[in-house]
Amino acid sequence: MSADGFVDLHLHVFPAIDDGARSLEAAVEMVEGLADVGFRRLVGTPHADDTRHPYGRERIEPLCEAVRDAVRRAGLAVEIDYGAEYAYGPRFLADLRARRLITLGGSRYVLLELPEDAMPTTMSGTLFEVGTAGYYPVLAHPERCRPFHDDPDRLVALAGGRALVQVSFRSLAGTFGRTIKKTAWKLVTEGLADLVATDCHSPRELKKIVRPVVAELEKRLSPDHLQRLMTGTPVRMLQTAA
Ligand SMILES: [Fe+2]
Repeated sequence: MSADGFVDLHLHVFPAIDDGARSLEAAVEMVEGLADVGFRRLVGTPHADDTRHPYGRERIEPLCEAVRDAVRRAGLAVEIDYGAEYAYGPRFLADLRARRLITLGGSRYVLLELPEDAMPTTMSGTLFEVGTAGYYPVLAHPERCRPFHDDPDRLVALAGGRALVQVSFRSLAGTFGRTIKKTAWKLVTEGLADLVATDCHSPRELKKIVRPVVAELEKRLSPDHLQRLMTGTPVRMLQTAA
């Protein structure tokens, strides 16, 4: 483990706001388990979309403060911050054009989930627009997008210079089946992923997903490579000002 500890830029740790932690107790249990495997900084990313998750930072911020306080009271040395996981769609485009995107820990990076079945032809133009607005997109688990399964080069072409590629622990653990697991490991081991994130939704995933994936990453990657994916890159990202 790096002396600086791991940084997670994608997890659902805020209580009862989305399909993540159900209570403050569950949130603290998640943080405790993540601290145990070496995480020192977590950026909670509740879903943000047009329909089921229309809330903005006014709802997220107080939950972040509540978790931060509870974590401090529990004596855990873990920093808690917030961002959002935007679904690609009208809500994302509206927040982008109004320059009010909720970024990762106040940095210039914004977490974006792409459609899984077909990639809109406008996507590279949209990513370019995100860049010209002063943000930098991070693609959340693109290994789950069907168009990239047979053709990871398509992802590389889309992201190249315009976005970072973030692979999720849940995909690496096989939660979404063999094809997605294979694509996820290919992106990580062949150096096509810029960073990895737990996308943890529940304390139950600590034993089933987080611990085994950390162990497997430690086994399959060089210490330098692992450090870049889980500490170096996310730390540098958080140092950029929005
Ligand atoms: Fe997520």
